Amino acid sequence: MTSAPLEHSGPRGIFIAFEGGDGAGKSTQVRFLAQSFRDAGRQVLVTRQPGGTPLGARIRELLLHGDHVSPRAEALLFAADKAHHVDEVIRPALRAGDVVITDRYVDSSVAYQGAGRDLGADEIHQIQRWAVDDLEPDLTVVVDISAEEGRRRRGTTHDRLESEADDYHEAVRAHFLAMAAANPDRYLVVDGTVDPEAIHAEVILRCRHDGLIA
Ligand code: TYD
Repeated sequence: MTSAPLEHSGPRGIFIAFEGGDGAGKSTQVRFLAQSFRDAGRQVLVTRQPGGTPLGARIRELLLHGDHVSPRAEALLFAADKAHHVDEVIRPALRAGDVVITDRYVDSSVAYQGAGRDLGADEIHQIQRWAVDDLEPDLTVVVDISAEEGRRRRGTTHDRLESEADDYHEAVRAHFLAMAAANPDRYLVVDGTVDPEAIHAEVILRCRHDGLIA
């Protein structure tokens, strides 16, 4: 699978996604990697899904802190958030040659709605691909932790999805790992239980290997 072409005029934009269970430590890794790219002289846009645009922030509120949302409606709202976000924020930044690092992307929906909610991973993938007009990350980093460890780290605060049982989170985790195993050229899996600096070193090594950073 290849990303939909971007009309490049300047330097090549780079698109990196972080995925993983709730409480895996993605946001720390996003921050570290953004700093490394900035230190290398790149313009960096850090964003997250759901959210990342004013419309997305409203969708996020409905999805995470609102009342019950039926599974198909949930899948479509996550897709709507991504469609808007990619169009308004991510593609323009990539066209400008920036590095875009996102905390969650398409795979979160494939795992949480497709595998976790039994809506069918393939169907959700199709909906998501349509929503983002086939834009794929250059690299997806899966920060892996067990459902039990994720729950321990989250403590007593849970949003609507986080409050799902461990079985749900284990299905989500298994799906992230399966996607990574099926496409090792596009994925890096890191152990979310080790020291954050060590995880970052692994991510940088892979970015160097892929020619994303010097
Ligand atoms: P996240 O922003 O990581 O939560 P927080 O930073 O508040 O801990 O993600 C919000 C939740 O949304 C998380 O449980 C995963 C879920 N999610 C989906 O179910 N589908 C999606 O497409 C996305 C992007 C997130």
